[in-house]
Amino acid sequence: MPARHWRVAGRRWLRYADPMAQQRSILIVGGGTAGWLTAAYLARALGQRAAITVLESPGIGIIGVGEGAFPTIRTTLRHIGIDEARFVREAGATFKQGVRFDDWLHSPTPAGRHRYLHPFDAPYQAEGTDLVAHWLLKPASAREPFAEAMTIQNRVADAVRAPKHSGEGDYDGPLAYAYHFDAHRLAALLRARAVELGVRHLEGELRGVETGEAGIGRVHTDAHGALTADLYVDCSGFRAELLGRALGGPFRSAKAHLFTDRALACKIAYDRPDTPIESVTTATAHEAGWIWDIGLQHARGLGCVYSSAHLSDARAAEILRAYVGHDRFDARIIPFEPGWRETQWVGNCVAVGLAGGFLEPLESTGIVLIEAAAAMIAEFLPFGGAVSASASRFNALMGARYGAITNFLKLHYCLSRRPEPFWRDNADPASIPDTLGAMLAEWRHRPPSRFDFLVGTESFAPFNYQYVLYGMGFETDLGQDAGGGADAAHAERLFERIRSFGRQAVAELPEHRALIRQIGEGV
Ligand code: FDA
Repeated sequence: MPARHWRVAGRRWLRYADPMAQQRSILIVGGGTAGWLTAAYLARALGQRAAITVLESPGIGIIGVGEGAFPTIRTTLRHIGIDEARFVREAGATFKQGVRFDDWLHSPTPAGRHRYLHPFDAPYQAEGTDLVAHWLLKPASAREPFAEAMTIQNRVADAVRAPKHSGEGDYDGPLAYAYHFDAHRLAALLRARAVELGVRHLEGELRGVETGEAGIGRVHTDAHGALTADLYVDCSGFRAELLGRALGGPFRSAKAHLFTDRALACKIAYDRPDTPIESVTTATAHEAGWIWDIGLQHARGLGCVYSSAHLSDARAAEILRAYVGHDRFDARIIPFEPGWRETQWVGNCVAVGLAGGFLEPLESTGIVLIEAAAAMIAEFLPFGGAVSASASRFNALMGARYGAITNFLKLHYCLSRRPEPFWRDNADPASIPDTLGAMLAEWRHRPPSRFDFLVGTESFAPFNYQYVLYGMGFETDLGQDAGGGADAAHAERLFERIRSFGRQAVAELPEHRALIRQIGEGV
Protein backbone atom coordinates (compact mmCIF):
# COMPACT_ATOMS: atom_id res chain seq x y z
CA MET A 1 0.00 0.00 0.00
CA PRO A 2 1.64 3.32 -1.01
CA ALA A 3 2.29 5.89 1.71
CA ARG A 4 0.05 8.95 1.88
CA HIS A 5 1.19 12.38 2.99
CA TRP A 6 -0.77 14.78 5.16
CA ARG A 7 -0.11 18.39 5.99
CA VAL A 8 -2.00 21.01 7.97
CA ALA A 9 -2.79 24.18 6.04
CA GLY A 10 -4.77 26.74 8.03
CA ARG A 11 -7.47 24.67 9.69
CA ARG A 12 -7.75 22.10 6.91
CA TRP A 13 -6.06 18.80 6.33
CA LEU A 14 -4.84 18.46 2.80
CA ARG A 15 -4.24 15.07 1.29
CA TYR A 16 -1.49 14.86 -1.29
CA ALA A 17 -1.63 12.07 -3.80
CA ASP A 18 1.40 9.86 -3.71
CA PRO A 19 2.74 9.66 -7.28
CA MET A 20 2.93 5.90 -6.69
CA ALA A 21 -0.73 5.65 -5.63
CA GLN A 22 -3.10 3.86 -7.98
CA GLN A 23 -4.79 6.33 -10.30
CA ARG A 24 -8.36 5.45 -11.28
CA SER A 25 -9.76 6.27 -14.67
CA ILE A 26 -13.37 7.44 -14.53
CA LEU A 27 -15.58 7.78 -17.60
CA ILE A 28 -18.75 9.80 -17.10
CA VAL A 29 -21.30 9.36 -19.86
CA GLY A 30 -23.52 12.43 -20.02
CA GLY A 31 -22.98 16.16 -19.69
CA GLY A 32 -26.11 17.45 -17.99
CA THR A 33 -26.24 18.75 -14.42
CA ALA A 34 -25.51 15.22 -13.16
CA GLY A 35 -22.52 14.59 -15.43
CA TRP A 36 -20.76 17.91 -14.94
CA LEU A 37 -21.55 18.29 -11.26
CA THR A 38 -20.21 14.77 -10.61
CA ALA A 39 -17.13 15.43 -12.76
CA ALA A 40 -16.27 18.69 -10.98
CA TYR A 41 -17.00 17.23 -7.56
CA LEU A 42 -14.85 14.15 -8.11
CA ALA A 43 -12.04 16.16 -9.71
CA ARG A 44 -11.93 18.41 -6.69
CA ALA A 45 -12.24 15.58 -4.15
CA LEU A 46 -9.94 13.04 -5.76
CA GLY A 47 -7.30 15.30 -7.34
CA GLN A 48 -4.50 13.23 -8.88
CA ARG A 49 -6.14 10.00 -7.71
CA ALA A 50 -8.48 10.09 -10.70
CA ALA A 51 -8.28 10.80 -14.42
CA ILE A 52 -11.79 11.87 -15.35
CA THR A 53 -13.35 12.03 -18.81
CA VAL A 54 -16.84 13.22 -19.67
CA LEU A 55 -18.46 12.05 -22.90
CA GLU A 56 -21.49 14.08 -23.92
CA SER A 57 -23.58 14.29 -27.00
CA PRO A 58 -24.45 17.85 -28.07
CA GLY A 59 -26.86 16.23 -30.55
CA ILE A 60 -28.90 14.55 -27.83
CA GLY A 61 -28.59 17.55 -25.51
CA ILE A 62 -29.70 17.84 -21.91
CA ILE A 63 -33.17 17.75 -20.42
CA GLY A 64 -32.91 21.48 -19.62
CA VAL A 65 -35.33 21.52 -16.69
CA GLY A 66 -34.32 21.45 -13.04
CA GLU A 67 -34.22 25.14 -12.25
CA GLY A 68 -34.44 24.99 -8.46
CA ALA A 69 -32.09 23.67 -5.81
CA PHE A 70 -31.99 23.00 -2.07
CA PRO A 71 -29.60 24.76 0.38
CA THR A 72 -27.14 21.83 0.17
CA ILE A 73 -26.10 23.29 -3.21
CA ARG A 74 -24.14 26.03 -1.43
CA THR A 75 -21.82 23.49 0.22
CA THR A 76 -21.44 21.65 -3.07
CA LEU A 77 -20.58 24.79 -5.07
CA ARG A 78 -18.11 25.90 -2.41
CA HIS A 79 -16.46 22.46 -2.54
CA ILE A 80 -16.24 22.61 -6.32
CA GLY A 81 -14.58 26.00 -6.03
CA ILE A 82 -17.03 28.26 -7.88
CA ASP A 83 -17.44 31.57 -6.09
CA GLU A 84 -20.97 32.81 -5.53
CA ALA A 85 -20.79 35.91 -7.73
CA ARG A 86 -19.53 33.81 -10.66
CA PHE A 87 -22.31 31.31 -10.04
CA VAL A 88 -25.03 33.99 -9.97
CA ARG A 89 -23.69 35.65 -13.13
CA GLU A 90 -22.89 32.59 -15.23
CA ALA A 91 -25.79 30.32 -14.22
CA GLY A 92 -28.24 33.26 -14.36
CA ALA A 93 -29.09 32.46 -10.74
CA THR A 94 -31.55 34.09 -8.36
CA PHE A 95 -32.07 33.36 -4.66
CA LYS A 96 -34.57 30.81 -3.39
CA GLN A 97 -35.72 30.96 0.23
CA GLY A 98 -38.21 28.12 0.15
CA VAL A 99 -41.39 26.95 -1.55
CA ARG A 100 -44.75 28.68 -1.21
CA PHE A 101 -47.71 26.34 -1.54
CA ASP A 102 -50.99 27.79 -2.81
CA ASP A 103 -54.30 25.88 -2.76
CA TRP A 104 -52.85 22.57 -1.53
CA LEU A 105 -55.12 22.20 1.52
CA HIS A 106 -58.32 23.17 -0.28
CA SER A 107 -59.39 24.65 -3.60
CA PRO A 108 -59.88 28.43 -3.72
CA THR A 109 -63.22 29.47 -2.20
CA PRO A 110 -65.04 32.84 -2.13
CA ALA A 111 -63.66 33.17 1.43
CA GLY A 112 -60.07 32.96 0.16
CA ARG A 113 -57.16 30.72 -0.70
CA HIS A 114 -54.99 28.55 1.50
CA ARG A 115 -51.28 29.38 1.41
CA TYR A 116 -48.26 28.29 3.41
CA LEU A 117 -44.51 28.57 3.12
CA HIS A 118 -41.88 25.90 3.50
CA PRO A 119 -38.93 28.19 4.29
CA PHE A 120 -35.34 26.94 4.34
CA ASP A 121 -34.51 28.60 7.64
CA ALA A 122 -34.91 26.44 10.76
CA PRO A 123 -37.43 27.52 13.40
CA TYR A 124 -35.99 30.15 15.73
CA GLN A 125 -34.44 28.67 18.85
CA ALA A 126 -33.55 30.71 21.90
CA GLU A 127 -33.03 30.29 25.57
CA GLY A 128 -33.93 26.61 25.65
CA THR A 129 -37.61 27.28 24.90
CA ASP A 130 -39.37 24.83 22.58
CA LEU A 131 -41.37 27.24 20.43
CA VAL A 132 -42.84 24.44 18.32
CA ALA A 133 -44.50 23.00 21.43
CA HIS A 134 -45.78 26.42 22.46
CA TRP A 135 -47.22 27.02 19.00
CA LEU A 136 -48.95 23.63 19.09
CA LEU A 137 -50.45 24.33 22.52
CA LYS A 138 -52.21 27.48 21.34
CA PRO A 139 -55.79 27.19 20.10
CA ALA A 140 -55.77 26.97 16.30
CA SER A 141 -57.77 30.23 16.06
CA ALA A 142 -55.10 32.13 18.04
CA ARG A 143 -52.10 30.98 16.01
CA GLU A 144 -50.19 32.75 13.29
CA PRO A 145 -49.34 30.43 10.39
CA PHE A 146 -46.53 28.09 11.52
CA ALA A 147 -43.76 29.44 9.28
CA GLU A 148 -44.69 33.02 10.11
CA ALA A 149 -44.55 32.30 13.84
CA MET A 150 -41.27 30.35 13.71
CA THR A 151 -38.99 32.33 11.39
CA ILE A 152 -38.44 35.76 9.95
CA GLN A 153 -38.02 34.26 6.48
CA ASN A 154 -41.74 34.28 5.80
CA ARG A 155 -41.85 38.08 6.11
CA VAL A 156 -38.63 38.54 4.16
CA ALA A 157 -39.90 36.39 1.27
CA ASP A 158 -43.36 38.03 1.28
CA ALA A 159 -41.67 41.42 0.95
CA VAL A 160 -39.66 40.09 -2.07
CA ARG A 161 -36.39 40.77 -0.24
CA ALA A 162 -33.14 38.88 -0.74
CA PRO A 163 -31.88 36.58 2.03
CA LYS A 164 -28.60 38.50 2.36
CA HIS A 165 -26.67 41.69 1.57
CA SER A 166 -24.19 41.86 -1.29
CA GLY A 167 -21.26 42.37 1.14
CA GLU A 168 -21.90 39.12 2.95
CA GLY A 169 -19.46 36.23 2.51
CA ASP A 170 -19.65 33.65 -0.24
CA TYR A 171 -22.59 31.30 0.31
CA ASP A 172 -23.22 32.88 3.73
CA GLY A 173 -25.98 35.07 5.05
CA PRO A 174 -28.34 35.50 7.97
CA LEU A 175 -30.96 33.18 6.41
CA ALA A 176 -30.70 29.75 4.79
CA TYR A 177 -31.17 29.86 1.03
CA ALA A 178 -30.67 28.04 -2.26
CA TYR A 179 -31.04 29.24 -5.87
CA HIS A 180 -33.11 29.21 -9.00
CA PHE A 181 -31.07 29.10 -12.23
CA ASP A 182 -31.03 28.40 -15.93
CA ALA A 183 -30.35 24.64 -16.28
CA HIS A 184 -28.41 25.04 -19.56
CA ARG A 185 -26.20 27.79 -18.16
CA LEU A 186 -25.62 25.77 -14.98
CA ALA A 187 -24.39 22.78 -17.00
CA ALA A 188 -22.10 25.10 -19.04
CA LEU A 189 -20.67 26.64 -15.85
CA LEU A 190 -20.08 23.24 -14.23
CA ARG A 191 -18.43 22.08 -17.45
CA ALA A 192 -16.09 25.10 -17.49
CA ARG A 193 -15.16 24.51 -13.86
CA ALA A 194 -14.63 20.76 -14.35
CA VAL A 195 -12.35 21.44 -17.33
CA GLU A 196 -10.42 23.98 -15.20
CA LEU A 197 -9.97 21.16 -12.68
CA GLY A 198 -8.45 18.91 -15.35
CA VAL A 199 -11.47 16.91 -16.56
CA ARG A 200 -11.18 15.76 -20.20
CA HIS A 201 -14.21 16.71 -22.31
CA LEU A 202 -15.20 14.56 -25.29
CA GLU A 203 -18.08 15.45 -27.57
CA GLY A 204 -19.60 12.41 -29.16
CA GLU A 205 -22.27 9.79 -28.88
CA LEU A 206 -22.14 6.46 -27.17
CA ARG A 207 -23.21 3.93 -29.80
CA GLY A 208 -22.67 0.58 -28.08
CA VAL A 209 -21.65 -1.04 -24.82
CA GLU A 210 -19.77 -4.28 -24.19
CA THR A 211 -20.51 -5.83 -20.85
CA GLY A 212 -18.30 -8.26 -18.96
CA GLU A 213 -17.75 -9.83 -15.57
CA ALA A 214 -16.83 -6.52 -13.96
CA GLY A 215 -19.95 -4.81 -15.35
CA ILE A 216 -19.05 -2.61 -18.32
CA GLY A 217 -16.21 -3.89 -20.53
CA ARG A 218 -15.90 -0.91 -22.86
CA VAL A 219 -18.09 1.63 -24.63
CA HIS A 220 -18.08 2.43 -28.34
CA THR A 221 -18.49 5.97 -29.55
CA ASP A 222 -19.08 7.59 -32.91
CA ALA A 223 -16.16 10.04 -32.72
CA HIS A 224 -13.63 8.61 -30.28
CA GLY A 225 -13.60 4.86 -30.92
CA ALA A 226 -13.73 2.49 -27.94
CA LEU A 227 -13.27 3.92 -24.43
CA THR A 228 -12.45 2.01 -21.26
CA ALA A 229 -12.25 3.04 -17.60
CA ASP A 230 -11.94 1.63 -14.09
CA LEU A 231 -15.25 3.23 -13.12
CA TYR A 232 -18.12 4.18 -15.44
CA VAL A 233 -20.60 6.78 -14.21
CA ASP A 234 -23.92 6.72 -16.03
CA CYS A 235 -25.18 10.31 -16.23
CA SER A 236 -27.02 9.79 -19.51
CA GLY A 237 -30.36 10.99 -18.16
CA PHE A 238 -33.58 9.07 -18.71
CA ARG A 239 -31.83 7.02 -21.43
CA ALA A 240 -29.76 5.30 -18.69
CA GLU A 241 -27.44 3.93 -21.40
CA LEU A 242 -25.13 1.98 -19.07
CA LEU A 243 -26.96 0.97 -15.90
CA GLY A 244 -30.35 0.66 -17.54
CA ARG A 245 -29.97 -0.38 -21.18
CA ALA A 246 -26.66 -2.27 -20.97
CA LEU A 247 -26.80 -3.77 -17.48
CA GLY A 248 -30.59 -3.98 -17.14
CA GLY A 249 -30.70 -2.61 -13.58
CA PRO A 250 -34.27 -3.21 -12.33
CA PHE A 251 -36.46 -0.11 -11.97
CA ARG A 252 -38.56 0.36 -8.84
CA SER A 253 -41.64 2.40 -9.57
CA ALA A 254 -42.99 4.83 -6.95
CA LYS A 255 -46.27 5.17 -8.89
CA ALA A 256 -48.29 3.53 -6.12
CA HIS A 257 -47.50 6.56 -3.92
CA LEU A 258 -46.63 9.45 -6.25
CA PHE A 259 -49.03 9.89 -9.14
CA THR A 260 -47.59 12.71 -11.24
CA ASP A 261 -45.81 11.54 -14.39
CA ARG A 262 -45.83 14.51 -16.79
CA ALA A 263 -44.81 18.13 -16.90
CA LEU A 264 -45.69 20.81 -19.42
CA ALA A 265 -42.84 23.34 -19.16
CA CYS A 266 -42.40 26.86 -20.59
CA LYS A 267 -40.71 30.21 -20.06
CA ILE A 268 -42.59 33.50 -19.70
CA ALA A 269 -40.81 36.83 -20.17
CA TYR A 270 -41.26 39.51 -17.51
CA ASP A 271 -43.62 42.35 -18.43
CA ARG A 272 -40.98 44.93 -17.54
CA PRO A 273 -37.23 44.70 -16.88
CA ASP A 274 -37.77 45.87 -13.30
CA THR A 275 -40.59 43.43 -12.41
CA PRO A 276 -39.84 42.17 -8.87
CA ILE A 277 -38.41 38.63 -8.79
CA GLU A 278 -39.94 36.29 -6.21
CA SER A 279 -37.34 34.64 -3.98
CA VAL A 280 -39.40 31.49 -3.43
CA THR A 281 -40.71 28.85 -5.81
CA THR A 282 -44.48 29.15 -5.99
CA ALA A 283 -46.20 25.75 -6.19
CA THR A 284 -49.90 26.16 -6.99
CA ALA A 285 -52.09 23.08 -6.74
CA HIS A 286 -54.60 22.35 -9.51
CA GLU A 287 -57.18 19.62 -10.01
CA ALA A 288 -54.63 16.86 -10.73
CA GLY A 289 -51.19 18.15 -9.73
CA TRP A 290 -49.48 21.51 -9.37
CA ILE A 291 -47.70 24.32 -11.24
CA TRP A 292 -44.16 25.48 -10.50
CA ASP A 293 -43.43 29.17 -10.98
CA ILE A 294 -39.79 30.14 -10.66
CA GLY A 295 -38.37 33.66 -10.87
CA LEU A 296 -35.24 33.55 -13.02
CA GLN A 297 -33.19 36.62 -13.97
CA HIS A 298 -34.72 37.22 -17.40
CA ALA A 299 -37.93 35.17 -17.35
CA ARG A 300 -40.16 33.00 -15.21
CA GLY A 301 -39.83 29.24 -15.58
CA LEU A 302 -43.19 27.50 -15.32
CA GLY A 303 -44.34 23.93 -15.45
CA CYS A 304 -47.66 22.21 -15.03
CA VAL A 305 -46.99 18.87 -13.29
CA TYR A 306 -49.80 16.34 -13.51
CA SER A 307 -50.92 12.75 -13.42
CA SER A 308 -51.73 11.40 -16.89
CA ALA A 309 -54.16 8.97 -15.27
CA HIS A 310 -56.19 11.90 -13.93
CA LEU A 311 -55.71 14.64 -16.54
CA SER A 312 -55.39 14.85 -20.32
CA ASP A 313 -52.54 16.77 -21.97
CA ALA A 314 -55.09 19.17 -23.46
CA ARG A 315 -56.60 19.96 -20.05
CA ALA A 316 -53.09 20.44 -18.58
CA ALA A 317 -52.39 22.98 -21.34
CA GLU A 318 -55.65 24.78 -20.51
CA ILE A 319 -54.71 24.91 -16.82
CA LEU A 320 -51.28 26.32 -17.65
CA ARG A 321 -52.78 28.94 -20.00
CA ALA A 322 -55.29 29.99 -17.34
CA TYR A 323 -52.47 30.34 -14.81
CA VAL A 324 -50.29 32.42 -17.15
CA GLY A 325 -53.22 34.51 -18.32
CA HIS A 326 -52.48 34.22 -22.08
CA ASP A 327 -51.37 31.66 -24.65
CA ARG A 328 -48.38 33.44 -26.17
CA PHE A 329 -45.81 30.81 -25.20
CA ASP A 330 -44.48 27.46 -26.37
CA ALA A 331 -44.60 24.59 -23.90
CA ARG A 332 -43.09 21.14 -24.17
CA ILE A 333 -44.32 17.94 -22.55
CA ILE A 334 -41.81 16.00 -20.46
CA PRO A 335 -43.00 12.53 -19.46
CA PHE A 336 -41.33 10.78 -16.52
CA GLU A 337 -41.84 7.62 -14.50
CA PRO A 338 -41.48 8.23 -10.75
CA GLY A 339 -39.05 5.69 -9.31
CA TRP A 340 -35.44 4.63 -9.12
CA ARG A 341 -33.05 1.83 -10.07
CA GLU A 342 -32.95 -0.58 -7.17
CA THR A 343 -29.26 -1.24 -7.64
CA GLN A 344 -27.57 2.01 -8.56
CA TRP A 345 -24.00 0.70 -8.45
CA VAL A 346 -23.36 -2.56 -10.29
CA GLY A 347 -19.74 -3.73 -10.53
CA ASN A 348 -17.76 -0.92 -12.16
CA CYS A 349 -20.80 1.16 -13.09
CA VAL A 350 -22.75 3.63 -10.99
CA ALA A 351 -25.67 5.83 -12.05
CA VAL A 352 -26.11 9.46 -10.99
CA GLY A 353 -28.98 11.80 -11.81
CA LEU A 354 -31.97 10.85 -13.94
CA ALA A 355 -30.19 7.65 -15.03
CA GLY A 356 -30.48 6.49 -11.40
CA GLY A 357 -34.00 7.71 -10.81
CA PHE A 358 -36.40 10.61 -10.47
CA LEU A 359 -39.46 11.07 -8.29
CA GLU A 360 -41.01 14.36 -9.34
CA PRO A 361 -40.08 18.07 -9.47
CA LEU A 362 -41.61 18.98 -6.09
CA GLU A 363 -39.05 20.28 -3.54
CA SER A 364 -36.16 20.07 -6.04
CA THR A 365 -34.86 16.70 -4.94
CA GLY A 366 -33.21 15.78 -8.28
CA ILE A 367 -30.07 17.83 -7.67
CA VAL A 368 -30.08 16.93 -3.96
CA LEU A 369 -29.75 13.27 -4.98
CA ILE A 370 -26.98 14.10 -7.47
CA GLU A 371 -25.05 15.92 -4.74
CA ALA A 372 -25.46 13.00 -2.34
CA ALA A 373 -24.37 10.43 -4.94
CA ALA A 374 -21.31 12.43 -6.04
CA ALA A 375 -20.18 12.91 -2.43
CA MET A 376 -20.66 9.22 -1.66
CA ILE A 377 -18.72 8.11 -4.74
CA ALA A 378 -15.87 10.46 -3.76
CA GLU A 379 -15.68 9.06 -0.25
CA PHE A 380 -16.34 5.41 -1.07
CA LEU A 381 -13.85 5.10 -3.92
CA PRO A 382 -11.20 2.80 -2.47
CA PHE A 383 -7.50 3.68 -2.65
CA GLY A 384 -6.82 0.16 -3.87
CA GLY A 385 -8.64 -3.06 -4.79
CA ALA A 386 -11.95 -3.32 -6.66
CA VAL A 387 -13.80 -0.05 -7.31
CA SER A 388 -17.04 -1.80 -6.38
CA ALA A 389 -16.01 -2.52 -2.77
CA SER A 390 -18.64 -0.15 -1.32
CA ALA A 391 -21.30 -0.74 -3.98
CA SER A 392 -23.75 -2.50 -1.68
CA ARG A 393 -23.42 0.26 0.95
CA PHE A 394 -24.03 2.89 -1.77
CA ASN A 395 -27.07 0.98 -3.02
CA ALA A 396 -28.55 0.65 0.46
CA LEU A 397 -28.03 4.35 1.24
CA MET A 398 -29.32 5.66 -2.09
CA GLY A 399 -32.33 3.30 -2.02
CA ALA A 400 -33.18 4.50 1.48
CA ARG A 401 -32.78 8.11 0.36
CA TYR A 402 -35.24 7.63 -2.52
CA GLY A 403 -37.63 5.96 -0.05
CA ALA A 404 -37.32 8.83 2.45
CA ILE A 405 -37.88 11.44 -0.28
CA THR A 406 -40.95 9.50 -1.47
CA ASN A 407 -42.32 9.88 2.07
CA PHE A 408 -41.52 13.59 2.22
CA LEU A 409 -43.15 14.28 -1.15
CA LYS A 410 -46.19 12.18 -0.35
CA LEU A 411 -46.66 14.19 2.85
CA HIS A 412 -47.41 17.25 0.68
CA TYR A 413 -50.27 15.45 -1.04
CA CYS A 414 -51.84 13.09 1.47
CA LEU A 415 -53.01 15.76 3.94
CA SER A 416 -55.00 17.67 1.32
CA ARG A 417 -58.76 18.08 1.69
CA ARG A 418 -59.27 18.92 -1.99
CA PRO A 419 -62.21 17.03 -3.49
CA GLU A 420 -60.91 16.08 -6.95
CA PRO A 421 -60.18 12.37 -7.69
CA PHE A 422 -56.38 12.99 -7.89
CA TRP A 423 -56.37 14.41 -4.38
CA ARG A 424 -58.78 11.84 -2.95
CA ASP A 425 -56.57 9.07 -4.39
CA ASN A 426 -53.58 10.74 -2.75
CA ALA A 427 -55.32 10.80 0.63
CA ASP A 428 -56.31 7.12 0.33
CA PRO A 429 -54.38 5.33 3.14
CA ALA A 430 -53.55 2.52 0.69
CA SER A 431 -51.42 5.00 -1.30
CA ILE A 432 -49.43 6.17 1.75
CA PRO A 433 -46.15 4.31 2.32
CA ASP A 434 -46.31 2.25 5.55
CA THR A 435 -43.33 4.07 7.06
CA LEU A 436 -44.98 7.46 6.47
CA GLY A 437 -48.33 6.17 7.77
CA ALA A 438 -46.63 5.02 11.00
CA MET A 439 -44.87 8.38 11.46
CA LEU A 440 -48.10 10.31 10.83
CA ALA A 441 -49.77 8.25 13.59
CA GLU A 442 -46.94 9.09 16.00
CA TRP A 443 -46.94 12.75 14.99
CA ARG A 444 -50.57 12.98 16.20
CA HIS A 445 -49.09 13.13 19.71
CA ARG A 446 -45.60 14.56 19.22
CA PRO A 447 -43.87 16.60 16.53
CA PRO A 448 -41.31 15.09 14.11
CA SER A 449 -38.00 14.40 15.84
CA ARG A 450 -34.46 13.98 14.54
CA PHE A 451 -34.59 10.35 15.71
CA ASP A 452 -37.38 9.60 13.24
CA PHE A 453 -34.81 9.58 10.44
CA LEU A 454 -31.76 7.41 9.78
CA VAL A 455 -28.50 9.31 9.46
CA GLY A 456 -27.09 9.16 5.94
CA THR A 457 -30.41 8.35 4.30
CA GLU A 458 -32.44 11.52 4.89
CA SER A 459 -32.20 14.66 2.77
CA PHE A 460 -34.51 16.75 4.94
CA ALA A 461 -34.44 17.83 8.60
CA PRO A 462 -37.33 17.31 11.03
CA PHE A 463 -38.20 21.00 10.69
CA ASN A 464 -38.75 20.59 6.93
CA TYR A 465 -41.41 18.01 7.80
CA GLN A 466 -42.84 20.34 10.47
CA TYR A 467 -43.24 23.22 7.99
CA VAL A 468 -45.23 20.99 5.63
CA LEU A 469 -47.26 19.21 8.32
CA TYR A 470 -48.33 22.34 10.18
CA GLY A 471 -48.60 24.39 7.01
CA MET A 472 -51.17 21.81 5.87
CA GLY A 473 -53.16 22.10 9.11
CA PHE A 474 -52.06 18.81 10.69
CA GLU A 475 -52.81 18.74 14.42
CA THR A 476 -50.35 17.33 16.96
CA ASP A 477 -52.06 17.00 20.33
CA LEU A 478 -49.59 17.67 23.17
CA GLY A 479 -52.21 17.34 25.90
CA GLN A 480 -53.45 20.16 28.09
CA ASP A 481 -50.68 20.51 30.63
CA ALA A 482 -47.51 20.50 28.55
CA GLY A 483 -46.88 24.24 29.00
CA GLY A 484 -48.56 27.42 30.20
CA GLY A 485 -47.74 29.82 32.99
CA ALA A 486 -44.49 31.74 33.04
CA ASP A 487 -43.05 29.53 30.34
CA ALA A 488 -45.90 30.40 27.97
CA ALA A 489 -45.43 34.11 28.67
CA HIS A 490 -41.73 33.74 27.86
CA ALA A 491 -42.59 31.94 24.60
CA GLU A 492 -44.92 34.83 23.69
CA ARG A 493 -42.04 37.26 24.16
CA LEU A 494 -39.92 35.13 21.81
CA PHE A 495 -42.71 35.04 19.20
CA GLU A 496 -42.85 38.84 19.45
CA ARG A 497 -39.07 38.96 19.02
CA ILE A 498 -39.41 36.97 15.77
CA ARG A 499 -42.03 39.46 14.52
CA SER A 500 -39.83 42.39 15.38
CA PHE A 501 -36.68 40.83 13.83
CA GLY A 502 -38.78 40.11 10.76
CA ARG A 503 -39.83 43.75 10.41
CA GLN A 504 -36.22 44.85 10.89
CA ALA A 505 -34.95 42.36 8.29
CA VAL A 506 -37.54 43.57 5.75
CA ALA A 507 -36.38 47.15 6.34
CA GLU A 508 -32.68 46.28 6.02
CA LEU A 509 -32.35 43.53 3.41
CA PRO A 510 -32.09 44.56 -0.25
CA GLU A 511 -34.87 44.02 -2.72
CA HIS A 512 -34.21 40.68 -4.48
CA ARG A 513 -33.78 42.04 -8.01
CA ALA A 514 -31.53 44.82 -6.68
CA LEU A 515 -29.16 42.25 -5.13
CA ILE A 516 -29.01 40.27 -8.38
CA ARG A 517 -28.24 43.50 -10.26
CA GLN A 518 -25.49 44.43 -7.76
CA ILE A 519 -23.87 41.00 -8.08
CA GLY A 520 -24.12 41.21 -11.87
CA GLU A 521 -22.38 44.58 -11.85
CA GLY A 522 -19.72 43.33 -9.41
CA VAL A 523 -20.83 45.83 -6.72
P1 FDA B 1 -29.77 15.18 -18.68
O1 FDA B 1 -30.83 14.59 -19.55
O2 FDA B 1 -29.84 16.62 -18.44
O3 FDA B 1 -28.35 14.87 -19.28
C1 FDA B 1 -28.07 13.64 -19.93
C2 FDA B 1 -26.77 13.77 -20.66
O4 FDA B 1 -26.42 12.50 -21.23
C3 FDA B 1 -26.79 14.77 -21.80
O5 FDA B 1 -25.57 15.47 -21.87
C4 FDA B 1 -26.92 13.86 -23.03
O6 FDA B 1 -26.41 14.46 -24.18
C5 FDA B 1 -26.08 12.69 -22.57
N1 FDA B 1 -26.35 11.46 -23.29
C6 FDA B 1 -27.47 10.71 -23.30
N2 FDA B 1 -27.32 9.65 -24.12
C7 FDA B 1 -26.07 9.73 -24.61
C8 FDA B 1 -25.31 8.95 -25.53
N3 FDA B 1 -25.83 7.86 -26.11
N4 FDA B 1 -24.06 9.34 -25.84
C9 FDA B 1 -23.50 10.45 -25.28
N5 FDA B 1 -24.17 11.23 -24.42
C10 FDA B 1 -25.44 10.88 -24.09
N6 FDA B 1 -34.30 18.72 -10.14
C11 FDA B 1 -34.09 19.66 -9.21
O7 FDA B 1 -33.17 19.52 -8.40
N7 FDA B 1 -34.88 20.76 -9.16
C12 FDA B 1 -35.92 20.93 -9.99
O8 FDA B 1 -36.57 21.98 -9.93
C13 FDA B 1 -36.19 19.93 -10.93
N8 FDA B 1 -37.24 20.04 -11.80
C14 FDA B 1 -37.47 19.04 -12.71
C15 FDA B 1 -38.60 19.10 -13.54
C16 FDA B 1 -38.85 18.05 -14.42
C17 FDA B 1 -40.08 18.09 -15.28
C18 FDA B 1 -37.96 16.97 -14.51
C19 FDA B 1 -38.21 15.84 -15.49
C20 FDA B 1 -36.83 16.93 -13.73
C21 FDA B 1 -36.60 17.95 -12.80
N9 FDA B 1 -35.51 17.89 -11.96
C22 FDA B 1 -35.32 18.84 -11.00
C23 FDA B 1 -34.49 16.87 -12.14
C24 FDA B 1 -33.32 17.51 -12.90
O9 FDA B 1 -33.78 17.98 -14.14
C25 FDA B 1 -32.22 16.52 -13.13
O10 FDA B 1 -31.91 15.91 -11.90
C26 FDA B 1 -30.99 17.22 -13.65
O11 FDA B 1 -31.28 18.07 -14.73
C27 FDA B 1 -29.96 16.21 -14.07
O12 FDA B 1 -30.27 15.62 -15.28
P2 FDA B 1 -29.23 14.60 -15.89
O13 FDA B 1 -27.91 15.26 -15.99
O14 FDA B 1 -29.32 13.34 -15.12
O15 FDA B 1 -29.83 14.30 -17.32
